[in-house]
Amino acid sequence: MEEFEEQGNEITDNENIKEIVESTIQHLNNPVLALKPIVKKYLTRVQEVRQDGNKFFFSDGEASVEVRVVSNEIIRVRLAPHSVFLEDFSYAVPVVDQKVSTFRLDDEEDYYAIATNTVTCKIRKEDFHISFTENLSQLVMSEDASPMHWEENADFGGYYVFATKKCFPEENFFGLGDKSGNMNLRGRHFQNWNTDAYSFGWDQDPLYRTIPFYTGVHQKSAYGIFFDNTFRSYFDFGKEDNEKTSFWSDGGELQYYYIHGPHMMDVVKRYQTLTGTHPMPPKWALGYHQCRWSYYPETKVKEIADGFRSRDIPCDAIYFDIDYMDGYRCFTWNKKHFPDPRKMIKELADDGFKTVVMIDPGIKVDDNYWVFKEGKENNYFCRRSDDYFMEGHVWPGRCQFPDFTNPAVREWWGGLYKELVDMGVAGVWNDMNEPAVFGAGTFPNDVRHNYDGHRGSHRKAHNVYGMQMVRSTYDGLKKLMRNKRPFTITRAGYAGMQRYGCVWTGDNVASWEHLKIGNIQCQRMSVSGVPFCGTDIGGFSGEPDGELFTRWIQLGAFSPFMRAHSAGDTAEREPWSFGEPYTAINRKFIELRYRLMPYLYSVFWEHHRYGFPILRPLVMLEQENVSNHFRQDEFAYGDKILVCPILEQGAISRTVYLPKGQWYNIWTHELLDGGNEHLVDAPLETMPIFIKAGSVIPEYPVMQYVGEKNVDEVLLNIFYANYEVNSFFFEDHGDTFAYEQDIYSEKKFTVKGNDRRLLIQQKLEGLYTPNYETYNYNLIGIPFGVKKVIVDGLEIKDYFTDDRNCLRFKSNKNFSVIQIQGDI
Ligand code: GLC
Repeated sequence: MEEFEEQGNEITDNENIKEIVESTIQHLNNPVLALKPIVKKYLTRVQEVRQDGNKFFFSDGEASVEVRVVSNEIIRVRLAPHSVFLEDFSYAVPVVDQKVSTFRLDDEEDYYAIATNTVTCKIRKEDFHISFTENLSQLVMSEDASPMHWEENADFGGYYVFATKKCFPEENFFGLGDKSGNMNLRGRHFQNWNTDAYSFGWDQDPLYRTIPFYTGVHQKSAYGIFFDNTFRSYFDFGKEDNEKTSFWSDGGELQYYYIHGPHMMDVVKRYQTLTGTHPMPPKWALGYHQCRWSYYPETKVKEIADGFRSRDIPCDAIYFDIDYMDGYRCFTWNKKHFPDPRKMIKELADDGFKTVVMIDPGIKVDDNYWVFKEGKENNYFCRRSDDYFMEGHVWPGRCQFPDFTNPAVREWWGGLYKELVDMGVAGVWNDMNEPAVFGAGTFPNDVRHNYDGHRGSHRKAHNVYGMQMVRSTYDGLKKLMRNKRPFTITRAGYAGMQRYGCVWTGDNVASWEHLKIGNIQCQRMSVSGVPFCGTDIGGFSGEPDGELFTRWIQLGAFSPFMRAHSAGDTAEREPWSFGEPYTAINRKFIELRYRLMPYLYSVFWEHHRYGFPILRPLVMLEQENVSNHFRQDEFAYGDKILVCPILEQGAISRTVYLPKGQWYNIWTHELLDGGNEHLVDAPLETMPIFIKAGSVIPEYPVMQYVGEKNVDEVLLNIFYANYEVNSFFFEDHGDTFAYEQDIYSEKKFTVKGNDRRLLIQQKLEGLYTPNYETYNYNLIGIPFGVKKVIVDGLEIKDYFTDDRNCLRFKSNKNFSVIQIQGDI
């Protein structure tokens, strides 16, 4: 056995000794590492500091740390073990510096302090401990438990890098992207390594995507840590040691962003200012999508399309899984099953269906196949360390794989979609891009990547491979579609992937447990910066019964991305496959999705423009209520609708927690007080949904697909409140980027009531004018007898109260103030 040594630095306290002993034991237990000596080094005493603009460099004589003020609320920390920083390049963060107002460095007796208007980052001189304090409350939000440390990696060069922070007694953790199991991450350990995780389990880890960003909440305040490192990374939230939270990786730079709250919403919004938001999707992409592995031949596709239209079940998109291709060669068609794809796509489009096709990264090794030939001639495929091609088996058999981290390859790949786009294909589904390889799982570590000129092995590029594939797809489609909004969907990804596409949660299972997993997964993705997410409704593998499928459709109606999908060896899985009463209930919920389309579209805009997540778990609504740190089976959809899915077989009621304020049951209009739990009826034909009092929820008529009918008037559902509430309503063309030139309409409604009056105000912004002229009002919950309705000073006589006790009338859409008056 070789000798193990702790080199270089003095051991300063007992905590360090404990950590060193623990890591040595871990090391010894690892058969690969055990043969090598540990060379673990810690930062020691701060010896000097230097400022360069918004960057501060601290050194212990050997290693350096850069602390960079990114904004008032965001501070970045980087470690260079031998004081040589890596080139500042990130796939996640295109531009680091944001608006910084003032900041200063103070040299105190025990520490240096870099203070912005909001937070202070302190660097303790004695041992290089770094902490972040909120200026206003003087709360310490995050604090090192031991100095940053590293181990040399003799095989690949570089370092294993480690950060260990205190885990506060009542601290809980959220986010981290694509994880299964409970929402609250405390007490668990995770790994990030994009993995094809067919039929994953409740606690299985890792899964398909890597988002090394989490939010910690303690003492009623929240902060975030984004560890921007693409290597295999690890997070421990008080599992190994209840008092410590650690993150580390198998290489790259120890580089993280501290993101201040104090609300979890602020943390997520600020994370999105770093990594970007999702562009506005084409409106049809928010409709219902029908998928299966695979619908073929053409007659089958037509039968499915007719199935929707003949049953009046709305649907916007039909998917073509791998079997549409010729021998699984990407960018080709199987002419036996699809003799004239252009004609078929046109006919589908005439009937209101968009065509979405799958494209995988594995390119069949076949010298008679143009894509392979072009890739080979241009040297676009990945190679091993000794220059052999990276080969592996996927659907077409022996394959080679484009290096999507090479900008020239991305440009080429983006252009390959030309023929599909010319044929009328409206969206592209990128799968297997972890990358997945049969047998081996993925590429070996020694595969080389261009990494946008910052070269690296697969250890560095693995977790970004899928993101760069969908980036290339998105950018390619955007050019080819002449600036119409592309629709892309990807399985794998890395932080920032939301700039290029939406995601589904991968190969789930038709089980009640997976309904629960999916419900949490979509919320978790949403607070990890990936808003446009959905599950395979019904479960990919296995067979749901009618009840499970219907409960899944109900939940799916409130998933930002709504798509049913199933594996090829399962029974038919369309909304009508289970007969009545399921078909009717499925139709009702898909229709509800379309009725609420203007609301969802507005919420999407709030995400795109302001960085709000679409789904918001209860902890995000009321983080100060610690019980909410453990509530995970209901969520807000935007800030006005609370969705409480039914996740138990046979359930006909459930307990819901309503956040503070007042909430209307969408089905009965019953008004309930928040801050409490309530037992609510939920027979199969309903799912508990609540609307926040004071909300204005715009509604379109039911359509069989987005754009089927001209909207002649918009229904505004207004829910009375005796306090003031603001609502947004966003509209635009729905499929162009004109919104970037302010061609949109954003309406802000303010609703305020008392026991004799209700006031509704509207303010307009933007340059888009919708075609309709009229609002049709549906006022719910007015507690007084209505005597007068006054729109912009003019009394309206033409109002009535309907059989559900709602006040109904109409007005021009451009109103400014409406007053509803009772007895004076
Ligand atoms: C993968 C995908 C799945 C798809 C199948 C065939 O398993 O996750 O959605 O249907 O491949 O392409």
